[in-house]
Amino acid sequence: MVSVLVIYDSKTGNTEKAAFLIAEGVSSVKGVNCVVKKVDKTDLDDLLGADGIMIGSPTYYGGMSAKVKDLIDRSVVIHGKLEGKVGAAFTTSGGTATGAETTLLSIVKAMLIHGMIIKGNPRDKHYGLAVVEAPESEEDKKLCREFGRSFADLTLKISRIPSQ
Ligand SMILES: Cc1cc2nc3c(=O)[nH]c(=O)nc-3n(C[C@H](O)[C@H](O)[C@H](O)COP(=O)(O)O)c2cc1C
Repeated sequence: MVSVLVIYDSKTGNTEKAAFLIAEGVSSVKGVNCVVKKVDKTDLDDLLGADGIMIGSPTYYGGMSAKVKDLIDRSVVIHGKLEGKVGAAFTTSGGTATGAETTLLSIVKAMLIHGMIIKGNPRDKHYGLAVVEAPESEEDKKLCREFGRSFADLTLKISRIPSQ
């Protein structure tokens, strides 16, 4: 079974809602097990045990929250061991063009430094998933589920490639 870990921080619940909708999409893919964890309950073994890691943060001044940054900084002791895992970022923000993309990129940058393979999107929300406030509309809910599903598909594909 391939495993996807959905990590999130959330103070007022918006990013948490996105995380659980994304997890629905991940779980809809056969052969993929999904675990959702709050960032402050996530330890380094959780990261090591996952084939795919999705990290969500509220947009705080155009970047990730301090709790998400803390996890990333703590991960320096396993630097090199996340290489080849699949990664993606998601965020919720107060508006559009108010820092969501830079938040996504702040997370994606750290994943790239870890040597992870990043899931982009050629159609919409290119750098990861971004929702304004809570994903309440049917359109936003669909976007979240679809993001999770396509991430799980890629993780499954990558994880099944045998190493040489
Ligand atoms: C400290 C702080 C900084 C924020 N900075 C931004 C910002 O730069 N751009 C933005 O669009 N929203 C900003 N917001 C709004 C949050 O990103 C938004 O309400 C988000 O959905 C909250 O997520 P949560 O409900 O998961 O905590 C900020 C909120 C807080 C509390």
